[in-house]
Amino acid sequence: MFAPMDSKIAEAKREVEQIEQAAKSADSFMRRIVKLLHDRMLKYNWVGFYMLEPGVHAPTLVLGPFEGAVTPHTHIPLNQGICGAAAAGGETLVVDDVSQDSRYLACSLETQSEIVVPIFVHGKVVGELDIDSHFPAAFAKEDRELLEYCAFLVGRQLEKNN
Ligand code: SME
Repeated sequence: MFAPMDSKIAEAKREVEQIEQAAKSADSFMRRIVKLLHDRMLKYNWVGFYMLEPGVHAPTLVLGPFEGAVTPHTHIPLNQGICGAAAAGGETLVVDDVSQDSRYLACSLETQSEIVVPIFVHGKVVGELDIDSHFPAAFAKEDRELLEYCAFLVGRQLEKNN
């Protein structure tokens, strides 16, 4: 039998798959994912996408669809923040206590932990899914798997449309 959190994650996974079936564009899929994750998952207090754009001097992460408080970080260079590090390294970053990570760019004083999952198209990072939590160490292995699955599906949608 599933523990309650496992079933929440399994339910969110199923709903994301249903949303993908109905998605008319990558953008509408991303909007629905942030809403679903923010509404359903108690510890996901800010959920948003950053997409990599050419930028004036160097590639920059630009805020896309999000749910949660307005953030001052609408443009993040790859050498800044946990967001920049995850995109530059092409690997999921999980930070259990943001106060202990010198890379962290504060969005809200309430944030205690964060996960950033890169999105790939044809093997290259094109953006990322970023989630902040008001709870410490909010992102367990199952959360990471769910969010990496969401990022995989978004990458697949973007590949279809490119
Ligand atoms: N905390 C992120 C910045 C984005 S906000 O969380 C929305 C970072 O350190 O890169």
